[in-house]
Amino acid sequence: MNTFRDYYNNEVKLSFANHPFSNDPKHVWVICKFNDDWLLTKHKDRGLEFPGGKVENDESADQAAIREVMEETGGIVKSIRYIGQYFVAGKGGNIIKNVYFAKIDELTLQNTYYETDGPVLLNAIPKDVKHNDLFSFIMKDGVLTHCMGHIKKNASAFF
Ligand code: GTP
Repeated sequence: MNTFRDYYNNEVKLSFANHPFSNDPKHVWVICKFNDDWLLTKHKDRGLEFPGGKVENDESADQAAIREVMEETGGIVKSIRYIGQYFVAGKGGNIIKNVYFAKIDELTLQNTYYETDGPVLLNAIPKDVKHNDLFSFIMKDGVLTHCMGHIKKNASAFF
């Protein structure tokens, strides 16, 4: 278990175990790779981030992950794998989020990208991401660094 503070100084707990906080999480976040690039979305208020969002009443977290990638980037998921789960003790309540790694087959043009401006491809996540105003707060805590490290360490399982 990794425990750290987020951008807003809320406590975050991240684990790579199988659903340690909830079997029925209400939020998802998807680290996406399209060929050699990372696929992000540009949230209209928060800035650049990997796609994700809330699980709807009639779907599973896995289904929400695939849907959010499509809605926010137009990306068709080729394969998707659960990485871990994190718990944020927020000021307005707690949230529990599943993190996934997805490979994207194709980027399709959408009429709307909902609360985002659509897909953004990056060859690398910049080293200064924590201090870079272009990036969303959800990219600025240990979740991103630990998950990227986990993907790298377990590359044979993910690639
Ligand atoms: P909407 O209801 O969609 O407008 O979003 P919201 O921001 O009001 O609600 P949400 O449940 O998505 O998030 C509530 C709060 O939890 C946010 O304001 C953040 O403080 C926190 N939060 C949500 N997602 C994350 C995340 O991925 N990382 C961190 N550190 N905090 C998060």
